[in-house]
Amino acid sequence: MPGIFISFEGGEGAGKSTQIQRLSDHLASNGIDVIATREPGGSQGAELVREVLLSGAARDYGVTAEAVLFAAARADHIDTLIKPALDEGKWVLCDRFADSSRVYQSESGVPAQTVETLQQVAIAGHNPDMTLLINVTPEVGLARVSKRSAPIEFDGPDRFETDTLETHRRRQQLFLQMAKKEPERIVVIDGDQSQDKVTEDIWQAVQHRFAAELKTQGAK
Ligand code: TYD
Repeated sequence: MPGIFISFEGGEGAGKSTQIQRLSDHLASNGIDVIATREPGGSQGAELVREVLLSGAARDYGVTAEAVLFAAARADHIDTLIKPALDEGKWVLCDRFADSSRVYQSESGVPAQTVETLQQVAIAGHNPDMTLLINVTPEVGLARVSKRSAPIEFDGPDRFETDTLETHRRRQQLFLQMAKKEPERIVVIDGDQSQDKVTEDIWQAVQHRFAAELKTQGAK
């Protein structure tokens, strides 16, 4: 039986990494074989591209080149990590995926159709079974980011964290519009709540959507 692919999306400071860790632990304790990964990155080739993108080194080549690089990283991530794991029946939790490109790269000025074409090439049919959109008010998310004590990867905020509040607000709206268009796949979780409440809502959504799989694949 193929595995289940769940992506996590949301603006800066939505708390995705904590929630992914918690869901991963919860699934594992239910007997599910699960891996957690992230984008951009997650595989050897994609991690190299991550550095180029988030350091801002690719910025000079323009937003289209950036969009192509995100897609290239995604293609490597799918080929070398996501697809093999799903084929082995594992559940894959991914911190950001194609919807981040649809939102961030479109908002940067790349035509939506171009972004979509790149996704179709990179994804080659491997769409997430479920996407958890952790919807956070930009002011709340940015305040959390500024308090982060985690080691900073690039000597300061990354390429996309320094954008204006207006930009963060537009991205939030784009994510919500997408969720409206694809309610079957995208579940909106209120990310302004406490971390524990967010964890609870995510577990409810996953249980609701994958009740049958949890029953048959769990408790192995
Ligand atoms: P990261 O440090 O992974 O942080 P977080 O997911 O916690 O925000 O940064 C990834 C950044 O890259 C983030 O600002 C969103 C951006 N991004 C895109 O612009 N397009 C994409 O396709 C992806 C995956 C990420």
